[in-house]
Amino acid sequence: MSEHAETTPPSILIVDFGSQVTQLIARRIRETGVYCEIHPFTTAGEALRALQPKGIVLSGSPASALDQNAPTIDPALIEAGVPILGICYGQQALCVALGGKVEAGHHREFGRAEVTVKKPASLYDGVWDLGTDHQVWMSHGDRVVELPQGFEVVGTSTGAPFAMIANEERRIWGVQFHPEVVHTPDGARLYANFVHNICGVDASWTMAAYRNKMIEKIRDQVGTGKVICGLSGGVDSSVAAVLIHEAIGDQLTCIYVDHGLMRLNESEQVVTMFRDEYNIPLVHVDASEVFLRELDGQSDPETKRKIIGRLFIETFEAEAKKLGGAEFLAQGTLYPDVIESVSITGGPSVTIKSHHNVGGLPARMNMQLVEPLRELFKDEVRALGRELGLPESFIGRHPFPGPGLAIRCPGGITPEKLDILRQADAIYLDEIRKSGQYDMIWQAFAVLLPVQTVGVMGDGRTYEFVCALRAVTSVDGMTADFYQFDMNFLGRTATRIINEVRGINRVVYDVTSKPPGTIEWE
Ligand code: XMP
Repeated sequence: MSEHAETTPPSILIVDFGSQVTQLIARRIRETGVYCEIHPFTTAGEALRALQPKGIVLSGSPASALDQNAPTIDPALIEAGVPILGICYGQQALCVALGGKVEAGHHREFGRAEVTVKKPASLYDGVWDLGTDHQVWMSHGDRVVELPQGFEVVGTSTGAPFAMIANEERRIWGVQFHPEVVHTPDGARLYANFVHNICGVDASWTMAAYRNKMIEKIRDQVGTGKVICGLSGGVDSSVAAVLIHEAIGDQLTCIYVDHGLMRLNESEQVVTMFRDEYNIPLVHVDASEVFLRELDGQSDPETKRKIIGRLFIETFEAEAKKLGGAEFLAQGTLYPDVIESVSITGGPSVTIKSHHNVGGLPARMNMQLVEPLRELFKDEVRALGRELGLPESFIGRHPFPGPGLAIRCPGGITPEKLDILRQADAIYLDEIRKSGQYDMIWQAFAVLLPVQTVGVMGDGRTYEFVCALRAVTSVDGMTADFYQFDMNFLGRTATRIINEVRGINRVVYDVTSKPPGTIEWE
């Protein structure tokens, strides 16, 4: 058995052929209490040897199984003898690999469809009954038209006569639809059945188990060494810090670089919580003066981001030196950052915004990384935070970008503008919390526009800034919808902001989704 397999729990291997929803397969499987990993089809053979999975799921793909350069299944996967479930393209690729036939669909199916269960199959044993119809989500142009030997059709839909196929003897199943998306209402139960009953893996992947495993792993990795952790006030770095502190105590020191671009009272809250409540050694660096000085007169979004990123690294590095250095750097890297994305076209993606993170630090400072959240999705990090006893109000916080209020103050930044923005933002969030909507929103914030407009207050003319309010719903920040507030709520909030904040005389609400907009304004 490989070293990796010894340290990982019984798992499922997800082979990624580049589908947009591959991560959802992993989410559904993890929700069943089973550990899984996503690996690109190009390295799936290695992953199989390292992970020794109890089952394999083959993802969908934007490619066509009929293309000359279509991604193929490593034969080792089929020969491994563990149960296999092929989803959409995964089903077609399986058929091609095993001698069946796929054809460009004459009935392309996108969206809701109904499958009819024609024969019993262990894939849906206990979930779907013979002869019943079920809503599923389809998204395919090609379809299977001839089955490999030993397979039979067990379910059909209008556009896919081979909607569900099975080879019970070889323990291989294929479905043309996507059980991982919410529009397949029974999809989660199908995955649960596959991993528990077919692959025989128990629901033992819990955050309590993960916490214990990681504590051991951190102790093993670090020994008596010193670890430095950059704390941002966000959920990821905070959970990482608390977990590492639990493992190695005061061998950990946190550095909180206060760039002066945080929200109202935010820095105090972060410092109080970690220093006083958690007793974690914490260096609070007030670097606001240098950040604001270097940002002075800069109005280009990318220039602002780059200045902040550079100063963050320089400040962090200087503080780490003062501490006498450390062998290890802790980071709150999450699983979605680790999954190697599969590019079917091979083209590079366009940079929309350069995100500020501490990615450049480890190489520059010659430090090894401690990344205890590398295997987790965001919702699992929150669950781990709860497990570690972090307060709910902290765990449920909306994400806050590294460059802070700098990217919510389009154009030039001044301390006065930041002050106005902080006050408006605090009122807006206060109203959202009071109305009970905070947890329904992915992110909500105020933006101070570099525009002044004319107003009238009392008997006088005003000429002050415009404040834009933004609130979006999202699952992962990659796409987002604007949040539909009630107009009374918006009216009430706007009145409070204009009455209570000197410097704003007009409030607007941003109704742009992503795409075409981005969540932040810069
Ligand atoms: P956009 O504006 O690109 O934002 O739609 C998507 C998500 O990323 C957050 N964001 C950042 N987070 N450093 C971060 O840590 C950054 O530089 C950064 N820029 C945007 C944003 O708040 C949203 O959640």
